Amino acid sequence: MNGDWTVVDEGWGRKAVDFAVLSEPGNSREYVAMHQRLGVSDRDHLVDVACGAGFAIELARARGATCAGIDASSRLVAVARDRNPDADVRVGDMHAMPWADGSFDVATSFRGVWGTTPAALGEIHRVLAPGGRLGLTVWGHIKASPGAWAMVPFRMAAAAKVENQAAMVSLGRPGAGEDLLARYGFVDVERVAVPFAWEFSDPDMYARALASTGPAFEAMQNVGEAAFIAAATQEAHARIRDGLPLRAQIDVAGYLARKPRLS
Ligand SMILES: C[S@@+](CC[C@H](N)C(=O)[O-])C[C@H]1O[C@@H](n2cnc3c(N)ncnc32)[C@H](O)[C@@H]1O
Repeated sequence: MNGDWTVVDEGWGRKAVDFAVLSEPGNSREYVAMHQRLGVSDRDHLVDVACGAGFAIELARARGATCAGIDASSRLVAVARDRNPDADVRVGDMHAMPWADGSFDVATSFRGVWGTTPAALGEIHRVLAPGGRLGLTVWGHIKASPGAWAMVPFRMAAAAKVENQAAMVSLGRPGAGEDLLARYGFVDVERVAVPFAWEFSDPDMYARALASTGPAFEAMQNVGEAAFIAAATQEAHARIRDGLPLRAQIDVAGYLARKPRLS
């Protein structure tokens, strides 16, 4: 059961511009590190799965890659297309991608494939060419991260949603991603450390950026937008450092893998 991808835009697309500008660029350390590890270059046809507002695609294009992307949120895809007019960015489900078998040299997904959506890995395997490279990131040990505070407001969602969020991040547990990738036919699986830190100028900016995400929508459905913003702003106030940005360093795990070459 992959859930209904057509409702994803309700949560992820409602503040697409805020997400694109205030949240997504904060993930760029992760994008740059994974592109570097994958050796993305002008010889590559790359697909970014669950591409959000397309910032990672923009950075892959800066390395010369020819790019495609897919996301369930039509409003995020609109931004991704605006940022990447020459890329093939589609609205759709990562479990049923609109490309032929073996279309890509490289597939990336930045916190887009979850413990609750493992079958997407089978679809990524299908669209990769033999020998194609995969770079995947997943949330790691969030609670042990110095920046764990930045995700506390997500816990204001209804209990069932919070439980589902925990199941979603289960791929970050040591061994979990390795097992799953092997099960879907990937080889040369390697877990790598990935730099990841969000920075914000002040508590209001942090609350606004956080409010643009899908899990924030789940919290707001439970407690309302005003209560969510108030709690997030309060959480950040305790983290203010004189003369420095608010900084939330969060554990993210990266996986590198390959689709086997034809023998
Ligand atoms: C945590 S965000 C990651 C977005 C982007 N990769 C980034 O680095 O910010 C998860 C993304 O998955 C997308 N998504 C959720 N379910 C999906 C599905 N079934 N197919 C494609 N995209 C999906 C959401 O719209 C959202 O953009």
